Amino acid sequence: MSDAAPDAELARPALEAVRARRSWSKVTDAAPTHAELVTLVSAAGRVADHSSLRPWRIIELRGDDRRVLGAAIAKAEGDAKPSTKPLRAPLVIAVVASYRHSKVPRWEQEAVASGVAHVLSLLLDEAGWGVFWRTGSYTRSKAVAKAHGLGKDEELLGWLYVGGKPERSRPSRRKAVDAHSHVSRMPGGAALPDELVHWRKDSAKAAAKKKKAKKGKKAKKPTDWVAKAEKAERKAQKAERKAQKAAQRAEKTRARAATTVE
Ligand SMILES: Cc1cc2nc3c(=O)[nH]c(=O)nc-3n(C[C@H](O)[C@H](O)[C@H](O)COP(=O)(O)O)c2cc1C
Repeated sequence: MSDAAPDAELARPALEAVRARRSWSKVTDAAPTHAELVTLVSAAGRVADHSSLRPWRIIELRGDDRRVLGAAIAKAEGDAKPSTKPLRAPLVIAVVASYRHSKVPRWEQEAVASGVAHVLSLLLDEAGWGVFWRTGSYTRSKAVAKAHGLGKDEELLGWLYVGGKPERSRPSRRKAVDAHSHVSRMPGGAALPDELVHWRKDSAKAAAKKKKAKKGKKAKKPTDWVAKAEKAERKAQKAERKAQKAAQRAEKTRARAATTVE
């Protein structure tokens, strides 16, 4: 056993990775390979997912795929020239919410797809890639949906623009998160309102009653009539054997008495 105490910070790489993450609006032409992307997507897909519906998919846009997106954006915006926005990064990842027919509502499924996008963006950042999640007024337009080949139960959540992190970039101006102002308790604090106090007492009483009834049921077992009949038969057979033995003994005594008299 090591006597060195584990370093709390080093032992929590996820905490460190999330703290260090930032968006990169400008990236270089370097990009993760398809294989690397697939590895990260399989990890990102481990987010909490009600009924494991996997209600999402990823579309990888590289090379001229980005020009197709540029043309669709122009169509959606009514512009004559194709948009050059998608050319800002060598890899553009479209994140799609693919809603499944299920009792799980759409908003929950969208939350899962959104979680995948966030975790994927974090994993890419941790792997050394620059990422920027972008959207626009055209994100859910018909022209853009058609360019991506979306189904009728699919919606885009935007694109992760991915590339190399430029070596000389300005230090990040991210504001710290004031967690205290985002964490609170329910209104009314820990004091239970009257109706809940009664409800708690009533439910405790009901639970005790149920427990008692269950115990009573256990003690009063139903009669096993077959076992009872078998036991009675065994008793009768034993009594019969006893009577036979007594009769044999009496017979022997009578025979002995007769010989003595002769
Ligand atoms: C769903 C979604 C869409 C976004 N769309 C845009 C966008 O179109 N343009 C933009 O400047 N930032 C957009 N952002 C915000 C950036 O991706 C980024 O989070 C922001 O610039 C803050 O930088 P930081 O991540 O380093 O804190 C979007 C974020 C999310 C989650």
